Amino acid sequence: MFIFDMAKKTWGDVIREMKIFLWNPETRQCLGRTAQSWGLILLFYLVLYTFLAGMFAFCLYIMLLTLSPYTPTYRDRVAPPGVMMRPYIRNTFNIAFNISQRVTWEPYVENMEHFLQDYNDAIQESKNIVCTPGQYFIQEEESSIKQACQFKRSELLNCSGIDDQTFGFSLGQPCILLKMNRVCFPTEHFVYLITIFKLQKGDESHLHEIKFYPSEAFDPMYFPYYGKRTHVNYTQPVVAVQFTSVSRNHNMNIQCQLNGQGIINDYNNDRFLGRIIFTLNIGE
Ligand SMILES: *[C@@H]1O[C@H](CO)[C@@H](O)[C@H](O)[C@H]1NC(C)=O
Ligand SMILES: *[C@@H]1O[C@H](CO)[C@@H](O)[C@H](O)[C@H]1NC(C)=O
Ligand SMILES: *[C@@H]1O[C@H](CO)[C@@H](O)[C@H](O)[C@H]1NC(C)=O
Repeated sequence: MFIFDMAKKTWGDVIREMKIFLWNPETRQCLGRTAQSWGLILLFYLVLYTFLAGMFAFCLYIMLLTLSPYTPTYRDRVAPPGVMMRPYIRNTFNIAFNISQRVTWEPYVENMEHFLQDYNDAIQESKNIVCTPGQYFIQEEESSIKQACQFKRSELLNCSGIDDQTFGFSLGQPCILLKMNRVCFPTEHFVYLITIFKLQKGDESHLHEIKFYPSEAFDPMYFPYYGKRTHVNYTQPVVAVQFTSVSRNHNMNIQCQLNGQGIINDYNNDRFLGRIIFTLNIGE
């Protein structure tokens, strides 16, 4: 009300009215309400919000009851696996080095060595069990801690970094490691995964020979992965790929694909879905 009358009043009047609005000593009202009125309002909102919070907590509780911590609920919607590689340095998938210049390939070697620490034979033997190759390692019991299969780096042979600690880089025959990064996919849709390679834009002839260790497939015994909560010592399988006689001084685009039932590997918007693309350039 006083806002509309402001033009006719002096500033002093306005301030006086304001003060009375804030605290009126005669009627004992604050902001136009008595203490009792304010109390009722606060009580009303307290009860209302307590009730809403309670409702929310209850719904959350009911929803959590229906979820099992050990298996994903929407199994069909789990994305197909993406592919990752090592070495991965300077946030790029470009591998370029000169064989005779150690400094140009040493960072790649260090990156590989660091990644493979978890795969040291002694560590694998102490944490994990020996599984039967070629079949899924299904552990049905819902709540138990899952065992994991050994993946020893010695299985990577010439790409293990054991005999040749430079992973082939010092010989101009570099190794790379491939792994899948979303392996929590459903048992019912299991596929045997094979990596295949193709070069983009017709530089096929420069690749010559490729070797795979331990083989060009991810062994099914490493699946399913039950998630980090129950599958505590799980070791992701890797496939090592060695380029033993690529042409020198050629910038090559190399694509590694997962191949198998239900695998998407040609989705244009995601270069890591079912495949990875990197460049390789080796100089003398
Ligand atoms: C390899 O050597 C060439 C010629 O000396 C040089 O231009 C190039 O930058 C070197 N490559 C790398 C990755 O350092
Ligand atoms: C995981 O590894 C630790 C040793 O690092 C071992 O004591 C434990 O038993 C392992 N857990 C399973 C489920 O294999
Ligand atoms: C591994 O490396 C050694 C020494 O360079 C070579 O003689 C052997 O043929 C390689 N093995 C494979 C499977 O290429």
